[in-house]
Amino acid sequence: MELHTMDLYIKSLIKEAGHIIRNSFVTELVVEAKSNANDLVTNMDKEIEQFFISRIRRDFPGHRVFGEEGFGDVIESLEGTIWMLDPIDGTMNFVHQKSNFAISLGVYEDGIGKLGYIYDVVNDNLYHAVHGEGAYCNDERLMPLTETSLEKSIVGINATWVTPNRYIKHEDSIRLIQDVRGTRSYGSAALELAFVATGRIDAYLSMRLSPWDIAGGIIIAQEVGAIATNFKGEAANLLQQDSFIAANPSVHSKILNEYINLK
Ligand code: IPD
Ligand code: CA
Ligand code: CA
Repeated sequence: MELHTMDLYIKSLIKEAGHIIRNSFVTELVVEAKSNANDLVTNMDKEIEQFFISRIRRDFPGHRVFGEEGFGDVIESLEGTIWMLDPIDGTMNFVHQKSNFAISLGVYEDGIGKLGYIYDVVNDNLYHAVHGEGAYCNDERLMPLTETSLEKSIVGINATWVTPNRYIKHEDSIRLIQDVRGTRSYGSAALELAFVATGRIDAYLSMRLSPWDIAGGIIIAQEVGAIATNFKGEAANLLQQDSFIAANPSVHSKILNEYINLK
C-alpha cells in the first residue's frame, strides 16, 4: 500500500482504537502487575494491541508487529516493514487518572521511520507525521523548533533522576535541575515526545525505554528538527531497551556532555 493511503488507514484505525478505550471508561478495568508492583497492565492494553494486530495481519500480511504486550512478532532485526506499537503508553495514568496516556505507533521500513503517530485519546489530539513531510497535531502543522538555551529550557524528567540509581550519577541531574528553567513529568513517554515536538518542553530524558515507547514519537519529533539518541549520542535503539533523549538541537549535546554521567 502506498504511504499516504497507509497514513489514512492508520489514522482511522487509531481513532477506532481510541473510541474503544473511551467506551471502556464505564466498565471496570482488570489491572495486573508485570515486572514489579508498579508496572501495570490492564485488559484494555491487551485488547487494543490485539485489535491492531488483527487488522494488520488481515490487511498487511507481510508486515511484522513489535508490540509491548507480546501478541505480535519476535523482532530481532529491523528488516522489512515493522509496526512498533504501544497500545496504551502511560498505563499508570490510564488506571489512576483516566487521562495523560496515549496510543503510540511508528511504522519503519528497513529501520527507517516512515509514519509516526501519538494519539492523546482523552483530548482527541492526534500527533502524526509522514517522513519528510512535516509533523502535525490534528490538522495543524507543527513549527520547526527554534533556538533556545539550557537556562530557558523546560526538561521532561521524573523524580528517579534525583535519587541514587544504577544508570546515572544523580548528583549531575540535580545540577541539571538547578540550571534549567523548569522540569515536568507527565508519565507518558509518547506524550512527552509529542510535547518536545510542539516545543512545550525542550527535552525529554529517560534512563530506560523500550522501542514501542519512542518509535512513533521519534518520527514526529525529527520532522520539526529535534534530535533523538541514547545517552551515548548513538541513534535511538529500536530493538532493545536503552536510555533515551529527545531534545531541541540547541540543548541536546549540552545536556549529554555536561549533565549525564553514566555509571
Ligand atoms: C511507560 C511510560 C512512562 C515511562 C516508562 C514507560 P507504559 O510506559 O511511558 O512514562 O517512564 O518507562 O514504561 O508502561 O505505561 O506503556
Ligand atoms: Ca510505554
Ligand atoms: Ca504500554
